[in-house]
Amino acid sequence: MKRVSSGDEFFMRRTFELARLGAGFVSPNPMAGCVIVKDGAIVAEGYHKKFGGAHAEISAIKQAKSRQLTADSMYINLEPCVHTDKKTPPCVPEIIRAGVTRVVVGMKDPNPAVAGRGIRALRRAGIRVDVGVLEKESRELNETYAKWIVTGRPFVLLKVAVTLDGALTLKKGTRSGFSSPESYAYVHELRQLYDAIALGSESILIDNPLLTARRKGQRSRNPVRVIFDRRGRVQKSAKVFHEPGETLVFSSSLAAALRELGRRGVMSVLVEGGAKLAQSFLRGRLVDKLMVTVTPQVAHDLNAPRFPFGYIRFSKSRWEIRGADAWFIGYLGMEKKSRAERDKSWRGVH
Ligand SMILES: NC(=O)c1ccc[n+]([C@@H]2O[C@H](COP(=O)([O-])OP(=O)(O)OC[C@H]3O[C@@H](n4cnc5c(N)ncnc54)[C@H](OP(=O)(O)O)[C@@H]3O)[C@@H](O)[C@H]2O)c1
Repeated sequence: MKRVSSGDEFFMRRTFELARLGAGFVSPNPMAGCVIVKDGAIVAEGYHKKFGGAHAEISAIKQAKSRQLTADSMYINLEPCVHTDKKTPPCVPEIIRAGVTRVVVGMKDPNPAVAGRGIRALRRAGIRVDVGVLEKESRELNETYAKWIVTGRPFVLLKVAVTLDGALTLKKGTRSGFSSPESYAYVHELRQLYDAIALGSESILIDNPLLTARRKGQRSRNPVRVIFDRRGRVQKSAKVFHEPGETLVFSSSLAAALRELGRRGVMSVLVEGGAKLAQSFLRGRLVDKLMVTVTPQVAHDLNAPRFPFGYIRFSKSRWEIRGADAWFIGYLGMEKKSRAERDKSWRGVH
């Protein structure tokens, strides 16, 4: 039987904080954090810092050893690895050697090469293992990894900012830019978290954005920039081609582009718009998660591109407030309708 205390949740939340420090640097590995607890206090911590580098558990064990402390309980947001077909040696034998008596795990590793084997190996060694402490939060933390490792296709987050009347710009043909500073800062956190950012050609032509991750006072790395441009209208002089990092231009279907990105190890794509590209992603049922930033402004231009609402069903959703904006966050479970019904429901959408 699983015995979970509020202490377990406290230590598990700390593993999440540690894991997030690796955001953007560990892909296509999952984010992982680990704390070692003795007599109710944290004595060592570790996290997966970069792809190919030491795993969270190994860093924490090393820290505990350097302080000549024996481990008691270990908390990890994800099941420890046991497979050998990867860059680093498996963690399970190290955990057993470290003399840990109890391991608390946030979630099972969905990687078919692990999928419970790490937990079983620990139990066989006589270690008590409790699985599923803050499981929902653990799953959300590594939702992009879970999709990619199971399907080979990237997790897609569609993120757009809209006015109260659903417009993406205040006036047709102009650059958008009406979100609060807090929302902008969060967009850069998302860009750090996601492996790729995607934009439609029209947005590149109008906005000429940098599409880089810029976080105040924190290490950042640029995601792969992806432009959808079937008619080859985006010129090499566009800013996206002159920023550090890779820029890819696709003229294929969105599904084919996602397959290719998944094959290249891109496990998550942040689609930032505009309206036409958003519509195609939604229509192709290619969106896993939607974020709509609602700002307290009105467009005053009926021809401004509008968010393609319609034909969306959310499996779960919530609101978050950032500065003056409300962020709607939902997971998509699209309705199963006939093609004719679907086409009808899209008519009239910009
Ligand atoms: N508020 C926000 O969050 C936000 C975010 C981004 C942009 N914007 C604003 O949105 C405006 C532009 O939006 P938009 O709707 O006019 O254009 P868009 O979605 O940015 O780009 C549309 C273009 O993308 C290309 N494309 C390639 N593959 C596509 C596919 N499968 N489906 C659809 N398009 C595909 C098409 O050109 P080809 O046929 O040549 O391929 C199409 O014309 C700008 O004013 C920008 O400032 C707002």
